Amino acid sequence: MKKILVATEKPFAKAAIDQIRPIVEGAGYAFALLEKYTDKAELLDAVKDASAMIVRSDKVTREVIEAAPELKIVVRAGAGYDNLDLEACTEKGVVAMNTPGQNSNAVGELVLGMMVFMARNSYNGTAGTELRGKKLGIHAYGNVGQYVAKIAQGFGMEVYAFDPFVEKATIEAAGITALDTVEDLYRTCDYISLHIPANQHTKQSINYALLSSMPKGGTLVNTARKEVIHEEELMKVMADRPDFTYISDIAPDCKADIEAKFEGRFFFTPKKMGAQTAEANINAGVAGANQIIGFLEKGDETFRVNK
Ligand code: 3PG
Repeated sequence: MKKILVATEKPFAKAAIDQIRPIVEGAGYAFALLEKYTDKAELLDAVKDASAMIVRSDKVTREVIEAAPELKIVVRAGAGYDNLDLEACTEKGVVAMNTPGQNSNAVGELVLGMMVFMARNSYNGTAGTELRGKKLGIHAYGNVGQYVAKIAQGFGMEVYAFDPFVEKATIEAAGITALDTVEDLYRTCDYISLHIPANQHTKQSINYALLSSMPKGGTLVNTARKEVIHEEELMKVMADRPDFTYISDIAPDCKADIEAKFEGRFFFTPKKMGAQTAEANINAGVAGANQIIGFLEKGDETFRVNK
């Protein structure tokens, strides 16, 4: 019996597994679960007879692909697939997919939640500020960006967006001001919410020039990837601009340095938790299982991300 493996160092909620397992078994496949593994060897062992796998941010490297001779498909249950070695997948004839949009609302809610938390001085009892009337810049208007914009409008924020891959008319139809350049976005907005993927074009692209152009009290919210930030330049902005705040769902490599020097001007979740809700886990996990079965049974390659 062919095996479909769910391999998640950061586990799905039990409610998600309770829905994924019957989909897999109901379609006639064996279900295997590897959670909270601490050693790569456990993953290499689990994939050796897997025909398909579902992962989250787990690193599916060339070594993992090569340890899985039966593997036909890997689905990243989530949006960003920078953790998959797409070249190795293609070389070994493995289809790689993501599940776009399935966990976006969870990330969107966390963005606004963290913004309120910091605007209210970490709920320490002192007078903070409100989000209403502040300008929010959405850097990339994809699935998550759209949710963030909608929720922010509910808060009464003025929403702006920059995305060279989306028609301005589409953005404007949602009551958002579409800006022409990334520079315009940063110089206009009190808050920036990052939603760009991490790739060769975006890594370290959020730099001193952009961040230091933000208005007084500027706040960067990063629920995307730490790799898109130029950390050395972020440190310089934090030093030069005592009014600047950095909020992130992915602690930077320079976390200890920021913590030592800039008390009260940052917030980092202890572990990436944008997509850590039962609902997002169910949506993404179930979509992943269905996509695998659709591919194995009917060759459906919707959501394939490698060539
Ligand atoms: C994504 O790209 O979908 C998010 O970053 C969620 O990642 P996670 O599944 O590791 O929480």
